[in-house]
Amino acid sequence: MTELREPMALHDIAALKRASTKIVMVTAYDQPSARLASEAGIDLILVGDSAGNNVLGYESTVPVTMDEAAMLTSAVARAKPRALVIGDMPFGSFQASDADAVANAVRLVKAGADAVKLEGAGPMTSRVRAIVGAGIPVMGHLGLTPQSATMLGGMKAQGRTAATAGRLLADARELEDAGCFSLVLESVPARIGAHVTEALSIPTIGIGAGGGCDGQVLVWHDLLGINEGVAPRFVKRYADVAGEIRRGLEAFAAEVRSGAYPADEHVYKISGDELRAFEAELANGERPAD
Ligand code: KIV
Repeated sequence: MTELREPMALHDIAALKRASTKIVMVTAYDQPSARLASEAGIDLILVGDSAGNNVLGYESTVPVTMDEAAMLTSAVARAKPRALVIGDMPFGSFQASDADAVANAVRLVKAGADAVKLEGAGPMTSRVRAIVGAGIPVMGHLGLTPQSATMLGGMKAQGRTAATAGRLLADARELEDAGCFSLVLESVPARIGAHVTEALSIPTIGIGAGGGCDGQVLVWHDLLGINEGVAPRFVKRYADVAGEIRRGLEAFAAEVRSGAYPADEHVYKISGDELRAFEAELANGERPAD
């Protein structure tokens, strides 16, 4: 296994922005994926609530529970990745009160997260202050926030008018003041992503927010081609993992059916003497000893 370097720290992420070095984040939801991400030199792993539609079979992120988020976070953390592990706070885990937000953020940290992410500003800014006040680093998330997609008019790009772009920038500044160490910008015009990035001293991580952001994030199943359906405009597929899996499974099924698998190299052996003794016992009607 590849030797992992020193784990990333918050100040390393801040330093990447100062050095104008792009920050790379991916989602991951299990131990082997987190190990591979770490070995590939990824800086941040988000245990996203996108697990809802990517691994748990829900239609959106909304049904994801704290139990599920904590279980996935602990699986990722067990990889002991070099990347910073961000636990995503699911819908319902922070909206009701600051106390709820702190209790659930603590749960994700106990499960192995180094930091948490939550969607929104406005009333949610007080949740950020409370969680940061409890000593837990928070990543913000603005633009298209899937947990409140209904309020936003659906899963569509945000900040496309002067007024909504102005609101986005104000929210971003508010989250920075509240103590966020970084901010995800999802589905906003590239020029607005760049403006927000220039206005903040904390790093922005874009997903459909253009190349002017300090870093980029994509969902594991999108970037590796595990999801094959229609994807949002910003998705780029870097591999065809679904195709590889399908080829592997079809080859396995064909070889089992033809008898080509298992071959000689896949089976355990018994010496000729032991086999003859066993078969003699069988022939004599004796029950072979354990
Ligand atoms: O849950 C998730 O995967 C996310 C990313 C889209 C940033 O929040």
